[in-house]
Amino acid sequence: MLGIRGIVDLAQVDLAKILAVTNQKGGVGKTTTAVNLSACLAELGQRVLLIDLDPQGNATTGCGVVKRVALPTVYQILIGRSTIADTRLVTEFGFDVLPANRELAGAEIDLIDIAQREYRLRDALVGLRGEYDFVLLDCPPALNMLTVNGLVAADAVMIPMQCEYYALEGLTDLVATLKKVRGNLNPVLEIEGLLRTMFDPRSTLTQQVSRELEGHFGAKVYRTIIPRNVRLAEAPSYGKPVIAFDRSSKGAQAYLLLAEEILERRASARGHGASSGELGVAP
Ligand SMILES: Nc1ncnc2c1ncn2[C@@H]1O[C@H](COP(=O)(O)OP(=O)(O)OP(=O)(O)O)[C@@H](O)[C@H]1O
Ligand SMILES: [Mg+2]
Repeated sequence: MLGIRGIVDLAQVDLAKILAVTNQKGGVGKTTTAVNLSACLAELGQRVLLIDLDPQGNATTGCGVVKRVALPTVYQILIGRSTIADTRLVTEFGFDVLPANRELAGAEIDLIDIAQREYRLRDALVGLRGEYDFVLLDCPPALNMLTVNGLVAADAVMIPMQCEYYALEGLTDLVATLKKVRGNLNPVLEIEGLLRTMFDPRSTLTQQVSRELEGHFGAKVYRTIIPRNVRLAEAPSYGKPVIAFDRSSKGAQAYLLLAEEILERRASARGHGASSGELGVAP
């Protein structure tokens, strides 16, 4: 017998997993992760949609899309003037992107008068989940209405972080926010994983914070570690994910390994049937 939970899981087998790449701390590698993971998952045969939820539009330029002011973006979707199907673009790297530009900064104010404003992105994605295996959301470095839309639309969050002292403090705030969103707006939201980025193994503090992270979050911490690698920083200026820029670089290899690890996790979650039913971290 499958039970209700099992039936729901079977029904979701072919639906996209929606992952919000989020951390309210700036410059921790959210966009680098969202763009490169999209490219690596696509390389492994997955159908991927990358949604840029940041008015900075870094994910948009990072995959070679020019941020023209007239470009229809995620902004038009949030305010109900367009659909994702009409707005997404096909990149030359095997995945689709829903672009953003600085117009999106106005969404915060425009959404004030719109009913159910936290659910705009989730509602826009209904009907598209069968077309993709993964939808990745590149969130801005703030806990604002754009991020809330991302967290409400997502099944789970991926948290990139640098292993430095203040990262742990920021993480406590983020986990508290996720619990609030889970309690009030999106009861199924889980932590998919914590990703150590810009890792420098020579630093004692980095090693220490990394161990603390594993101690507290256990298997939620990805085995794959993203090293500090200059090719990852250079690739966006060519409008390319790193696997299209320098495939043999350590950065490209690390993001390919991460994509494989995520696929393994997904396969084993399907094998076990149900999700944990919790955020998956200690209180
Ligand atoms: N592993 C890495 N090695 C070297 N440089 C990196 C690495 N990951 C990211 N960077 C660089 O660090 C900077 C910040 O990264 P990124 O833009 O991905 O962070 P972010 O969290 O999206 O920032 P924001 O909070 O502003 O959106 C960028 O210049 C990026 O190229
Ligand atoms: Mg970013």
